[in-house]
Amino acid sequence: MSQMAWWQTGTVYQVYPRSFQDSDGDGVGDLRGITRRLDYLAWLGVDAVWISPFYPSPMADFGYDVADYCGVDPIFGTLDDFDELVRQAHQRNLKVILDFVPNHSSVAHPWFVESRASRENARRDWYIWREPASDGGPPNNWLSNFGGPAWTFDEPTGQYYYHAFLPDQPDLNWRNPAVRTAMYDALRFWLARGVDGFRIDVIWHLIKDDRLRDNPVNEAYEPHQAAINRFEQVYSCDRPEVLDVIAEMRSVLREYGERVLIGEIYLPIERLVTYYGPDLRGADLPFNFQLISTDWRADSVRALVEEYEAALPDGAWPNWVLGNHDQPRIAARIGPAQARIAAMLLLTLRGTPTLYYGDEIGLDAVAIAPHQARDPWGRNEPGHGRDPERTPMQWETAPNAGFTSGMPWLPITTDHKVRNVDALRDDAASILTLYRRLMSLRRDHAVLSSGSYRTITLSSSVSEEVFAYERVQADERLRIILNFGSRERQIELPGGRGWSILLSNQTGRTGVKGEGALTLDPDEGVVIADR
Ligand code: GLC
Ligand code: MG
Repeated sequence: MSQMAWWQTGTVYQVYPRSFQDSDGDGVGDLRGITRRLDYLAWLGVDAVWISPFYPSPMADFGYDVADYCGVDPIFGTLDDFDELVRQAHQRNLKVILDFVPNHSSVAHPWFVESRASRENARRDWYIWREPASDGGPPNNWLSNFGGPAWTFDEPTGQYYYHAFLPDQPDLNWRNPAVRTAMYDALRFWLARGVDGFRIDVIWHLIKDDRLRDNPVNEAYEPHQAAINRFEQVYSCDRPEVLDVIAEMRSVLREYGERVLIGEIYLPIERLVTYYGPDLRGADLPFNFQLISTDWRADSVRALVEEYEAALPDGAWPNWVLGNHDQPRIAARIGPAQARIAAMLLLTLRGTPTLYYGDEIGLDAVAIAPHQARDPWGRNEPGHGRDPERTPMQWETAPNAGFTSGMPWLPITTDHKVRNVDALRDDAASILTLYRRLMSLRRDHAVLSSGSYRTITLSSSVSEEVFAYERVQADERLRIILNFGSRERQIELPGGRGWSILLSNQTGRTGVKGEGALTLDPDEGVVIADR
């Protein structure tokens, strides 16, 4: 086995900084709060922490509207706080991954202020400005991902600017070499401070069609979908030239050694895998969100894993994600019993797992009353708000679950007195214990991070509800058998050798040994070793 990089064997944990830990009582999480909780992350057993944006920002999209790529917003702290966070993380062998948002800045960024000042301004071409169409309307039919048109008319200069998201988030012109140079310098600013990698926001959006052609109508559009889906995003994103940009970013990172480049990409598998780039010079990890969109059924998930494994280019390293700050919580989507199966799947499939904060304590969607709604998308398009998955982390059986001494910026769950880290950490049956044991199993059995993957074929009577696979490396084999159903199941294991349960998501099953058939409880998942 060749030497593996830390981002291949390790586990990534996403922190949404507004919601992790508040240190100053303003109800919003901050960098000092994260530093305070690093011991928890080390105890949990993750290897890297990815922090969503904390740059200076008017917070129109809660930090995904950046006004300065090389600073810290006062609400989150200072650059000194950041340096201390990195120092303390590295002391605990935790890597630090930043969220970089290069597709668009805030309207408040000095670059955009200059760009909109006049048509002649030297930075005019740093953003995407176009003449109105002949009828005075927008230059093409592109829509904003957050509802409404993607073009906003600027009266004083008589042109439209393009924004894939809010009007407060103008898209930068990545065809302009000066933009690239400035952005690569911003990457170097953080790399020099010891950052171990970046998650690049909407990386497949960076380059738009050179002729800005209209997007074709999506014939499969259904009214419950967000308005953006009325058109197929053929010309507004996923353009071939983006791969050159990604390769350039990658080489900037490599100036600093083994740093990771993760790309946020919502595309079907066959497009997603092209983001590894020609000769694997693209993203190290094009985020694989397929588990989020696939039906939660054993046969669908098995088909997905096989399709993804088969589509990966030679040498490309896989990765898996169950949720993030833009998607409904896994526990809300599939329920608490299956959330435990999801944890086992995430941490035993081949590839780098990314956990979303709070999923390890089984956080559910939190009901948000209209007056509590904060997400701009939800306010533009009711029903699409992302607040329910961004609520505060729950630490203790204290007021506000120990998240803040003030008023939390979003509400916490009604069951926070029992659903918090302190209440679950010593409970052998808790989901938190399960997550922690899975990560320790990964450390003890390298086969789980670097072994090969193979589906185990089960009889047709169980394969609809049970998904089984094996991980093999040298002379070690582990088998993972997951019951996606709520019925007890008898599994005939091919091979006939004896087995012993290394880990089960049900209590009292670890260490159980047998020969041949294995009976799974409802919603049970097991990792078994040969005997
Ligand atoms: C990404 C982020 C999302 C943000 C959007 C615009 O999808 O994950 O939270 O709103 O980009 O920056
Ligand atoms: Mg605070």
